[in-house]
Amino acid sequence: VAADQAWREEVLRLAAEQDAVVLAHNYQLPEIQDVAHHTGDSLALSRIAAESTAATIIFCGVHFMAETAKILSPEKRVLIPDARAGCSLADSITAEQLREWKAEHPGAVVVSYVNTTAAVKAETDICCTSSNAVDVVRSIPADREVLFLPDQFLGAHVQRETGRKNLHIWAGECHVHAGINGAELAERAAAAPEAELFIHPECGCATSALYLAGEGAVPAEKVRILSTGGMLDAARATSAASVLVATEVGMLHQLRQAAPDVDFRAVNDRASCRYMKMITPAALLRCLREGLDEVHVDPDTASQARSAVRRMIEIGR
Ligand code: 13P
Ligand code: SF4
Repeated sequence: VAADQAWREEVLRLAAEQDAVVLAHNYQLPEIQDVAHHTGDSLALSRIAAESTAATIIFCGVHFMAETAKILSPEKRVLIPDARAGCSLADSITAEQLREWKAEHPGAVVVSYVNTTAAVKAETDICCTSSNAVDVVRSIPADREVLFLPDQFLGAHVQRETGRKNLHIWAGECHVHAGINGAELAERAAAAPEAELFIHPECGCATSALYLAGEGAVPAEKVRILSTGGMLDAARATSAASVLVATEVGMLHQLRQAAPDVDFRAVNDRASCRYMKMITPAALLRCLREGLDEVHVDPDTASQARSAVRRMIEIGR
């Protein structure tokens, strides 16, 4: 405990000395979430990064999140404690593949999830996150074709919510969320009939949950499809005694702090993102001491990507 306290104090001292703000995604290790100046979902953290007056942003999350902060604030120094923290979803489409897809649908509006590389964002009209994807697609005139990428499950959620027929969805997925399957969810829900279900739209089981609700196997009002930030708002407001959570397990830490009286359980307790967990306490300290790893985005790519990212942080405010 004394060592933890010394680590915390050192992190905060070095951050203050360098005029650095430490941001942590909701999937980070508990000690990283607790030391950060701000914790949140990818949309909230992008907004904080854009508005911050700090000289340095230390992004405890995955690489595309730090890149997004750099695109929004090219004049700031942006650091990530381990540049190898990638994302299987962001890797599921390249800029070249997107250019080919656009050529097949001339005139379509390209909506990319924030979980994409800067090069893909540079080919994008509007970025979105899981908390505003539906609003972003609704903002596009109904007669325009939409290319939605890269997550097929988030795409299916947007299609259900908007009822849009001219939405084409890329077949990418996040290995962590896709692995939380419908059979597992059905089993957990049957064993805990009183529990509410909080389900991230990237989950393969989101469709199954709605199917179960349609079949009457779980009450429809208990099924909530939510971004990680949306889960926290729902946790503070819930009257349920227990909640089954279908997302990356790091989320449980924030949920338990937000609503200590509620029993939060993971639908799949192996749903841990190895990239998010690369940001260790030792890596954060090294980052602050050595200024590593610095995130660079090619200035031309950043300027082509900037308007799509700016539209993302404006929509759904
Ligand atoms: P949100 O924080 O936007 O819900 O994102 C989830 C995610 O998988 C980020 O990698
Ligand atoms: Fe990417 Fe999935 Fe990890 Fe989120 S949980 S960072 S989408 S691999």
